[in-house]
Amino acid sequence: GIDWKLPDHPKLPKGKVIGLIVLDGWGEANADQYNCIHVAETPVMDSLKKGAPERWRLVRAHGTAVGLPTEDDMGNSEVGHNALGAGRIFAQGAKLVDAALASGKIFEGEGFKYVKESFETNTLHLIGLMSDGGVHSRLDQLLLLLKGASEQGAKKIRVHILTDGRDVLDGSSVGFAEILENDLAKLREKGVDAQIASGGGRMYVTMDRYENDWSVVKRGWDAQVLGEAPYKFKNAVEAIKTLRAEPNANDQYLPPFVIVDDSGKPVGPIVDGDAVVTFNFRADRMVMIAKALEYADFDKFDRVRVPKIRYAGMLQYDGELKLPSHYLVEPPEIDRTSGEYLTYNGVRTFACSETVKFGHVTFFWNGNRSGYFNDKMEEYVEIPSDSGITFNVQPKMKAVEIAEKARDAILSGKFEQVRVNLPNGDMVGHTGDIEATIVACKAADEAVKIILDAIEKVGGIYVVTADHGNAEDMVKRNKTGQPLLDKSGNIQILTSHTLQPVPIAIGGPGLAPGVRFRKDLPSGGLANVAATVMNLHGFQAPSDYEPSLIEVVDN
Ligand code: 3PG
Ligand code: CO
Repeated sequence: GIDWKLPDHPKLPKGKVIGLIVLDGWGEANADQYNCIHVAETPVMDSLKKGAPERWRLVRAHGTAVGLPTEDDMGNSEVGHNALGAGRIFAQGAKLVDAALASGKIFEGEGFKYVKESFETNTLHLIGLMSDGGVHSRLDQLLLLLKGASEQGAKKIRVHILTDGRDVLDGSSVGFAEILENDLAKLREKGVDAQIASGGGRMYVTMDRYENDWSVVKRGWDAQVLGEAPYKFKNAVEAIKTLRAEPNANDQYLPPFVIVDDSGKPVGPIVDGDAVVTFNFRADRMVMIAKALEYADFDKFDRVRVPKIRYAGMLQYDGELKLPSHYLVEPPEIDRTSGEYLTYNGVRTFACSETVKFGHVTFFWNGNRSGYFNDKMEEYVEIPSDSGITFNVQPKMKAVEIAEKARDAILSGKFEQVRVNLPNGDMVGHTGDIEATIVACKAADEAVKIILDAIEKVGGIYVVTADHGNAEDMVKRNKTGQPLLDKSGNIQILTSHTLQPVPIAIGGPGLAPGVRFRKDLPSGGLANVAATVMNLHGFQAPSDYEPSLIEVVDN
């Protein structure tokens, strides 16, 4: 069995209340007009920075530091919160799928064999995000999957695309669709009946998360399964170009469309006997569609027709629900997370965010596991997000509400760890609206103040950090850092995350005077935070955790 008892920290006391704040999408970058954190009034975060180097530093939040394939991979919330919560670096979905495709093992596993049963008589449907962002999916992986599936006997393939513009530049969906169409044409030359069957923008079709808005998933179901959508086209590139030409249209929010044949019939509804693979590796935005595809009992929307399919996910998306039950690649085995340890060591935890980020400080934090480890030791509170809006319209989001819940939890005396995610920098940053993102950053800073004030009152400790960059850089840049211009001379807005490091600050009246950041971990990353927090709770971290960022010197 696992020894859950953590050894005492030789110098640090137990029982302090720790306010653990994750600013979503809050990186550190050069100060210029496209750095919304710099432009915004952020007095609280600015004052924390003055604690450098002993009580403020930067940590790595992208690439190999969070288990992604290369240093060109930007950070994201899944891998960021996984690292923060688990204290170790796990090879993540993107990397595991790369390896399984490279070795060909993906085609030998249980999941692929299961869907393959349908190939002789039925259609293989691939549903997922068409992107090279590497956050939820990658186009090169989709192309390898298509090629492999056809070599493994798939005779009829339908791809249901979701356009991105959130992890990649807006408008890039056209180029991706052309690449995909080109590969599908090659398959057709080889006698495989392969086509795009439907599409829609990721934020409006299919890829909702944490049950914020089931109508998003329903729109996908209607197009992908039922073959019904408000727009019908003969060809996907034409569909995207036409729908993008509408006023205010963008890749993230394209309306759903289906591809129809010459007689106007949809080319790829999902029917009894078909195989379906959702090819995203990232979990959060696949859980809802996986439930719709897999569960017999389902009441979130009227599915109208529920085909008997063989369904597999690229990965298993929820380790607790074992959802979906079939999958192509084993997910990272993120075990023994800090949250689970703390429940065995008397640390009572409160976690809170609003719906769109709720699973980040719970599900991702706990290694892609929904639910509590021990409901007597933990309380998770979700503040309902505004749904059906883009967050540039409400850039303050629920930051104050989240902070007030955290404040109350801190003051209640019922918890030793109070953990929140403040979504503003990220969710508004993804809209590409610079003015709104500045408002968002200010709102997040004000929320931090509410929590720090409560920590001050109870003599506690704060740890303020972030999961990856976003709001600190809103423009696409060339190699020398200059903003890139498009054909009409406008700057290219960066809606995605960045490769930037993120800050971590510690402090509060409960912090023992001799605590400071070590100098010998210059390349420390998010995975070093869990051991740091365990120390501040008065424990030594498990020996296989990434080392703590702090040391205690005798004053
Ligand atoms: C999203 O899912 O919203 C983006 O692709 C990534 O954002 P997140 O990693 O901050 O959630
Ligand atoms: Co984000």
